[in-house]
Amino acid sequence: MIVSLLSLAVIGYAASLPTAFKDASLDCRGKKTAPEQLHFNYAGDHGMMISWNTEEKLELPSVLYGRGRSLDQIAFSKVSVTYPTSTTYSNHVFIKGLEPDTEYNFAVQCADENDHHQFKTSLPAGNPRPYSFAFFGDLGTMGPLGLTSYGQKDALGPGEITTMQSLNHFKDQVEFMWHDGDLAYADDWLKEEIDGFLPNTTVEAGAAVYEAILNAFYNEMAGNVTMELPYMVGPGNHEANCDNGGSGDYTDSICAQGQTNFTGFRNHFRMPSEQSGGLENFWYSWDYGMVHYIQFNTETDFLDAPDLPSGSGDENAGPFAPNGTQLEWLKKDLASVDRKKTPWIIVAGHRPWYVDETKCDACQAAFEPLLIEYGVDIALFGHKHFYERMTPVANGILDPNGLDNPSAPWYLVNGAAGHYEGLSSLTTPLENYTVQAIDTVYGWSRFTVHNCTHITQDFIASANGTVLDSATLYKDHNGCKF
Ligand SMILES: *[C@@H]1O[C@H](CO)[C@@H](O)[C@H](O)[C@H]1NC(C)=O
Ligand SMILES: *[C@@H]1O[C@H](CO)[C@@H](O)[C@H](O)[C@H]1NC(C)=O
Ligand SMILES: *[C@@H]1O[C@H](CO)[C@@H](O)[C@H](O)[C@H]1NC(C)=O
Ligand SMILES: *[C@@H]1O[C@H](CO)[C@@H](O)[C@H](O)[C@H]1NC(C)=O
Ligand SMILES: *[C@@H]1O[C@H](CO)[C@@H](O)[C@H](O)[C@H]1NC(C)=O
Ligand SMILES: *[C@@H]1O[C@H](CO)[C@@H](O)[C@H](O)[C@H]1NC(C)=O
Ligand SMILES: *[C@@H]1O[C@H](CO)[C@@H](O)[C@H](O)[C@H]1NC(C)=O
Ligand SMILES: [Fe+2]
Repeated sequence: MIVSLLSLAVIGYAASLPTAFKDASLDCRGKKTAPEQLHFNYAGDHGMMISWNTEEKLELPSVLYGRGRSLDQIAFSKVSVTYPTSTTYSNHVFIKGLEPDTEYNFAVQCADENDHHQFKTSLPAGNPRPYSFAFFGDLGTMGPLGLTSYGQKDALGPGEITTMQSLNHFKDQVEFMWHDGDLAYADDWLKEEIDGFLPNTTVEAGAAVYEAILNAFYNEMAGNVTMELPYMVGPGNHEANCDNGGSGDYTDSICAQGQTNFTGFRNHFRMPSEQSGGLENFWYSWDYGMVHYIQFNTETDFLDAPDLPSGSGDENAGPFAPNGTQLEWLKKDLASVDRKKTPWIIVAGHRPWYVDETKCDACQAAFEPLLIEYGVDIALFGHKHFYERMTPVANGILDPNGLDNPSAPWYLVNGAAGHYEGLSSLTTPLENYTVQAIDTVYGWSRFTVHNCTHITQDFIASANGTVLDSATLYKDHNGCKF
């Protein structure tokens, strides 16, 4: 098998490759190997991770790729993984040796002949080109299994444009997406049944319903955006939840396996932790142009982390590494940033501690000292189903400079992307660090990195693309000049 794939690559006969790839070399006929749920993510300046699902296991998941319109190269792996209640296998192929900031054409194994896609590799650290990216938390399945226009709190208006569709609409304006935890909300299956929203669901069918909601989410995302834009993700409580939307009517024993201990999430993604010394999809970093990005994990793997069996969230998850590993990594990663190349550091974790709702005190105790010590510019969060923009703040003290060259990190919460549970309400009166808060609109954040001194964040209403809040951070970054 390996030999025949390699010889195809050597022949490099681009016109016939997809057909050979589909029918002959890999025997796609009659097998449930049709690709679905396609997505990809950065894996170093010279790499890209391509991921997709199939109903049947692939022995040697393979991707054809090439510069421009060609498909003259091949990459493959042995990573086709699943877990007992899943109805699919997650296939992951790491393509290495790519040119940075370059567009490639690609096709995954057993795709239809003309089913080609494009990705663009990451912008190397230090490259001063301005760009935008999309940031959001808490985005769930849309349609009859999730958020739709009937039968639930904060239902969509008839024909209302969802966040997925809004991202699709803006896909030429942003270079990647960052989803800061809580994907799909498939763990709401029992709540959806109890609410009468999925009236024919039974507890016995729970795992199947869970997996159906999860598959629907990844397919909707693929159809709208993840086939076209890199998709970076982090862990949220809904990747491990077993309380079915707080419905109360549950025991751990009826939880589908995918929803416990981050099982589905660990199968579905391969974030660039190998390239950054991090751990799986839990904590990792990457560079893109003038910014060093860090995803950290507010769910497990620090003292009193909420999802640990001993934690307040009680999701019975983790730990995934020996005590102290995450914070040691974060400190080392922050200390190693070359601020001459990447003057900006933007971090994201799921649970906020500056927010007008329940605060994650254990998260603050674990992470805030490091964010202050290493001069993190922007700290992003989800988890609360609204949009909230803070002023820069450290240890509860408001930075006197505001957005005009503060030394404290600038905090934002945006968990307003939309899902079955609808929106949450802000607790009033608002905290003194809150500048702008919106809890009635589904939306996402567009960040624009202008240069080494200015970054703008716009809160975009998904329904009509209107910018409902906009603010620009200025940092002098020691007199940087690009
Ligand atoms: C539930 O099942 C009943 C009986 O099979 C059927 O008539 C009804 O349409 C189903 N409802 C939904 C929402 O699927
Ligand atoms: C895009 O997402 C919407 C829900 O947000 C979904 O109904 C639609 O099927 C998706 N489009 C594609 C092409 O998958
Ligand atoms: C979750 O999975 C990790 C990795 O397999 C394991 O070490 C840990 O004990 C699990 N946690 C629970 C609560 O099952
Ligand atoms: C983990 O390390 C921290 C800090 O060193 C310590 O306070 C804590 O007790 C340790 N936890 C466990 C479970 O060993
Ligand atoms: C903001 O509120 C905190 C806590 O309530 C308080 O300690 C601080 O002095 C307040 N700051 C300002 C500028 O009002
Ligand atoms: C950086 O970008 C901001 C916002 O677009 C702009 O006002 C400023 O002049 C730029 N700085 C330089 C040095 O170009
Ligand atoms: C866009 O939608 C938002 C949220 O529903 C609304 O507040 C705003 O007025 C709308 N803007 C326009 C131009 O329709
Ligand atoms: Fe959450």
